[in-house]
Amino acid sequence: MVSASDFIGRDVITVGDFQRDEILFLLDAADRFDAQHGRPLAGRVIATLFFEPSTRTRLSFESAVGRLGGNCIGFAEAGVSSQAKGESLTDTVRVVEGYSDLLLIRHPKEGAARLAAEYVGIPVVNCGDGAHQHPTQTFLDLYTIRREVGRLDNLHVVFAGDLRYGRAVHSLVTVLALFDAKITLVSPGFLRLPEEQLQALDALGVVHEETESLEEALPGADVLYMTRVQRERFSDPLEYEKFKDTYRLDLKMLEHGSDELAILHPLPRVTEIAPEVDAKPHAAYFRQAHYGVAVRKALLALLLGCADEVLA
Ligand code: NCD
Repeated sequence: MVSASDFIGRDVITVGDFQRDEILFLLDAADRFDAQHGRPLAGRVIATLFFEPSTRTRLSFESAVGRLGGNCIGFAEAGVSSQAKGESLTDTVRVVEGYSDLLLIRHPKEGAARLAAEYVGIPVVNCGDGAHQHPTQTFLDLYTIRREVGRLDNLHVVFAGDLRYGRAVHSLVTVLALFDAKITLVSPGFLRLPEEQLQALDALGVVHEETESLEEALPGADVLYMTRVQRERFSDPLEYEKFKDTYRLDLKMLEHGSDELAILHPLPRVTEIAPEVDAKPHAAYFRQAHYGVAVRKALLALLLGCADEVLA
């Protein structure tokens, strides 16, 4: 049996750090924290060290901290931190450890959050490390799926877009194995899911197929996880130009999906979902961004050992 005390002091670096029943415990806790207006984080200081652009992840964490009565310190771009003077990440985190109770880190290099966690004794939460992982996005994606579709088990989930560089995809795709999902991967060849992830799906026994056609993938799907082509990860800008408009979900394309299809997107969106889709009940992506606050409230309170009162 999982209990709140199992979360205290832990780092959140990859989704693999968490078992299925721990994830479900977190999602249940998020339901409780959704309506929580107490101040369990009063007197706690959370540091946001964001070396890459962010809107939702940083602001929903800051909102979560504020709503729970805690305080945030930090920076939203590398240029305003001492990294601009040549300071190493490990020096920065050792210093900020003395100013805060938990570190939220986003960094363009894969493995940055894991490295930071090796140098500090307080919990470190990976808010995105390069094209690698984005575990808290996955928790809110699962929370969204459960709220919108009503269950997590035995779903047919279609991922479309940039499966090569999208860290939100990389985190979610393997976790779905815990819930017996069937997965369809839609991308041009250049943006395929990396080979090692495909092999991991095989090893986990996940039923998965690949196609370049969104149209063919949609019939029968419960969830469509649409993604942005990750311009900042391309070494060749011309390559980005070639692939940036590969998919566009508009009302016509949506006709291939069922009436119950839930459309998720970690956002930001560029051109891959037409604005006309926003008004459809299928469009869950703005609700998804809002659910991030409840999930992050629950996660912070659990990691800091402040969740008991709310969960009692
Ligand atoms: C995602 C990210 O940063 O990986 N955004 C987010 O955190 N909601 C997806 C993206 O940038 O495309």
